[in-house]
Amino acid sequence: MRLSEDFMTELKSRIDISEIIGEYVDLQQKGKNLMGLCPFHSERTPSFCVYPANGSFYCFGCGAGGDVITFLRLVEHYDYIEAVKNLAERAGMDFEVSEEDNAIHQKKLLIYKINRDAAKFYHSSLLKECGKEALSYLKKRNVSLKTLKHFGLGYSPSTGYALVDYLKKIGYNSEDIILSDLAFKTRNGKEVDRFRNRLMFPIIDVKGNVIAFGARTMGKDMPKYINTSDTPVFKKSSNLFSLNFAKKSGKNEFILTEGYMDVISLYQAGFDNAVAGLGTALTVNQVKLLARNVDNVVVSYDSDLPGQKAANKAIEMLKDNGLEVKVLSIPKAKDPDEFLQTYGKDGAVKFKNLIENSKNDIEYKLSNVKSSYDLSSPNDKVKYITAACEILAKCRNSVEREIYAIKISEEANISKDSVMLQINKIIKKNRKKSEKIEFKDIQKTTSALNDNINPEKRNHLRAAIAEESLISYIINNPDVANTIFKSFSPEKMITGFNKRVIGVLKDIVSEGKTMDISTISQYGFSFEEIGRITRIMCSYKPSSGTLNTIEECLKVIEEENEKIKLKDVSSVSEQDVMEYIKNLKNK
Ligand code: UTP
Ligand code: MN
Repeated sequence: MRLSEDFMTELKSRIDISEIIGEYVDLQQKGKNLMGLCPFHSERTPSFCVYPANGSFYCFGCGAGGDVITFLRLVEHYDYIEAVKNLAERAGMDFEVSEEDNAIHQKKLLIYKINRDAAKFYHSSLLKECGKEALSYLKKRNVSLKTLKHFGLGYSPSTGYALVDYLKKIGYNSEDIILSDLAFKTRNGKEVDRFRNRLMFPIIDVKGNVIAFGARTMGKDMPKYINTSDTPVFKKSSNLFSLNFAKKSGKNEFILTEGYMDVISLYQAGFDNAVAGLGTALTVNQVKLLARNVDNVVVSYDSDLPGQKAANKAIEMLKDNGLEVKVLSIPKAKDPDEFLQTYGKDGAVKFKNLIENSKNDIEYKLSNVKSSYDLSSPNDKVKYITAACEILAKCRNSVEREIYAIKISEEANISKDSVMLQINKIIKKNRKKSEKIEFKDIQKTTSALNDNINPEKRNHLRAAIAEESLISYIINNPDVANTIFKSFSPEKMITGFNKRVIGVLKDIVSEGKTMDISTISQYGFSFEEIGRITRIMCSYKPSSGTLNTIEECLKVIEEENEKIKLKDVSSVSEQDVMEYIKNLKNK
């Protein structure tokens, strides 16, 4: 293990995994374990399980699993050291980092530093001669000096070498500059600035690190915006623009926009709680990030058709993750920025009005369908009621459902009861459908057919089950592991992944380390693989299932090995078989 054994044991004894995961997931006690909605994929019925007894978690829906460190790494995108550091702080412990871990961590710190220096360079370029045009462009868009300083906006010079040259001059090497995605190498080996002649928007995380840049073209060249690609410190799908500032506002409601410029104009108009995606459709990770910071989101997307479509999708995801949603429609303007520009100094008050009069998600969807039907035509009326009931069936609050059912019945001039009847019918139908889907998901992650972690399981199911029981048994009973490995060699394992796991377990035993998922995680397994090992550890309980004893497991593995040998024999030529029998006789 990289960190000292004693340190990790002490740390884990002070940390309660259910308490930490409980900060991210609403957990319900189920026997000895806790269940909740998985923070790593969208679901409506809980398949995420926390096992306090062995300090692990596993999601039967998506296969994520591991110990508390893995959890923090997945949910916060921490590296290993950041996760341990976070836990150590909670536990009130100091710790020393090994060379190897330190190297990875130092690299990340270096990229933050390069990014920060690049941001300073871009910002000062904006205020220099070369940035004159960009500055006047911002002025034309009514961005004040104060606002552009607040966001640290900048300009990337068009020469192609300005930033690389500067960064090299102040001591960075080209390899690290390229790793930060601030430059790339051309075929002739020369480094070129990645961003040229663009307005630069630094993307800053909640800890204040510059993690990436968004860059808007100054001219007409496409694409209009480009972003930093994923780097060791940045994942586009897991961050939001201006989250750092919005978080600082302390508000329990964020305004979610599509564009950087919307956030900036809103800030200037006094709305310090706006955030934007980073040029992709809203992702589950971004929604989870929002949900960790606020309970309420005002969706304020572009008013064009793509914007509305994106809003519909966003609403669904936000609601699924427990957020209260309001939806703005922006009259007579393309986006919030344009709206604020249109109304000049009245913009702020008008926008505030929009928020106050904004519809909740149900009202928004109902008014959308209503506007597409002519209620004076009986045909359309039926279609409208059906569509409206579909919307209400998805609403989880029964009081809300009833209130809107009354509204629809009045609009369409039919009885409330028949509206409710229709809604309940749809609810029943949907429930069956979603149960089927989730069951399928679970089957997918647990079936051997599509197993890409251990593909051999498919053809050696009996062996794999025995192997997994053995793995689970050893992890859960480390005291007998030594005895087992005295007579059992990992080479006997038939499927590749399980063989690798057993090999690691043997190493752990012989090195005298603590047998748990945290130690196992240190042996080069991917997150998916750690998830799998956790599942094996938690789902094959000792003395449940068909293989009760360790002897039985070992016997099955032995038998399966024999079968494979026999199969091999069947492909041997007759002559060789005769030869073999002759040899046997001689013996
Ligand atoms: P918009 O085109 O609506 O951007 O795209 P905007 O912020 O309103 O830009 P202005 O007002 O023309 O300056 C919304 C967001 O989509 C991403 C960017 O994050 C942008 O802010 N985007 C857009 C891209 O990533 N690439 C593109 O080519 C265009
Ligand atoms: Mn815009």
